[in-house]
Amino acid sequence: MSLDPYFEANRANWDDRTPIHTASRQYDLEGFLAGDSTLLEEDIANVGDVTGKTLLHTQCHIGLDTLSWARRGASVTGLDFSPESINTARDIATRAGLEARFVEANVYAAVEALEGEQFDVVFTGVGALCWLPDATAWTHVMGKLVRPGGAFYIREFHPVLWSLDEDAPPPSLSITRPYFETTEPLASDEAITYTDNPTGEPIANTRTYEWNHGLGHVITALIQAGLRIEFVHEYDWCESPALPWMVEEGRWRWALPEGRERLPLAYAIRATKPA
Ligand SMILES: C[S@@+](CC[C@H](N)C(=O)[O-])C[C@H]1O[C@@H](n2cnc3c(N)ncnc32)[C@H](O)[C@@H]1O
Repeated sequence: MSLDPYFEANRANWDDRTPIHTASRQYDLEGFLAGDSTLLEEDIANVGDVTGKTLLHTQCHIGLDTLSWARRGASVTGLDFSPESINTARDIATRAGLEARFVEANVYAAVEALEGEQFDVVFTGVGALCWLPDATAWTHVMGKLVRPGGAFYIREFHPVLWSLDEDAPPPSLSITRPYFETTEPLASDEAITYTDNPTGEPIANTRTYEWNHGLGHVITALIQAGLRIEFVHEYDWCESPALPWMVEEGRWRWALPEGRERLPLAYAIRATKPA
């Protein structure tokens, strides 16, 4: 079956979420325009110095992370398949007075959309992989986008987190969703998103399709795509309340409630492409 209907539904949903996120407290556009960075200290340390480097941010959404890397001295490109997100990212770049290029394309078509250009750093932020049906095909795209001698980096929600039942709050955590990648997506219909909604507008295109990807699969596929893994860090926190009963432990720190055994909720992988 063609994957296009899944991509089309997800794209329409992300177009609808874009104005809500842009107005939300969580994305804090005013703070960003006043000079705040949206990058986590862990990512800044894990990615390393980007001064003078070319950096591609895939699935960049409204570009706040992309533009935060620009403020750290990178020459940045953001790519996303949502035209609303890309237009918003361009508008924010102009308002912030930052140089950036934003390209509208499906990540699976990124090599063609960027005409074979390769980058010193290819960065993917949290909340990206779950929208992609095929982790192996995605790693092969990533491998082609990194220049020889360049680096690939992702921080993502952990597949263990996505396998937990969101309707089974602690202490009765249960696993009701697949840990491993499946051909069939998980379909949902939700008129809300993960941020507050100051616009008051509901999401019209509610249907979305998601896939989970086991960590071993992602790591092995990156190696098979020609990348050399430097580290895989697993974290017992993630940056937003991915499940409704998670507790806030600090800015961008959400975890399982106290008294629960800690579980991996996010991971970061850095890999390089041999020169
Ligand atoms: C949760 S957001 C990423 C958030 C991001 N970490 C940030 O900096 O805000 C997921 C993004 O992935 C994009 N996306 C989903 N599937 C995609 C695909 N197949 N190709 C390109 N972009 C995609 C969506 O449009 C959305 O902007």
